[in-house]
Amino acid sequence: MAEWIEAGELASLGDPGARGVRVPGREGVPLFVVHKAGTLAAYRNACPHTGAPLEWMPDRFLDMDNSFIQCALHGALFRVGDGYCLRGPCARQSLEALPVRLEDGRIWVDVSALSRADGGSGHG
Ligand code: FES
Repeated sequence: MAEWIEAGELASLGDPGARGVRVPGREGVPLFVVHKAGTLAAYRNACPHTGAPLEWMPDRFLDMDNSFIQCALHGALFRVGDGYCLRGPCARQSLEALPVRLEDGRIWVDVSALSRADGGSGHG
């Protein structure tokens, strides 16, 4: 069953921009939203390499050029649009995408997948 939570305004996210999203009843920052060149996506905040959170500072999920999502731990680079890892120790694996939608300029993410045990990097 879908479990939509609000993840803030699109306008305040910027383009390019990213933001960690807290989820009531969950520790830390279990997911993030990212926006670049008009593409909006949401991912579980877990690197396919070790499961670690990706950001190097709060809300800093993008690399220096704002070109790719970058894991702070070992520098893996992921495409914004589909979370595919182009370079790094988890190359050719992908971040886990979460369903995202826009409503009146606000971002909504379906977090029901977060309730499942960590699915690792298996097939979606
Ligand atoms: S934990 Fe992300 S690249 Fe190693």
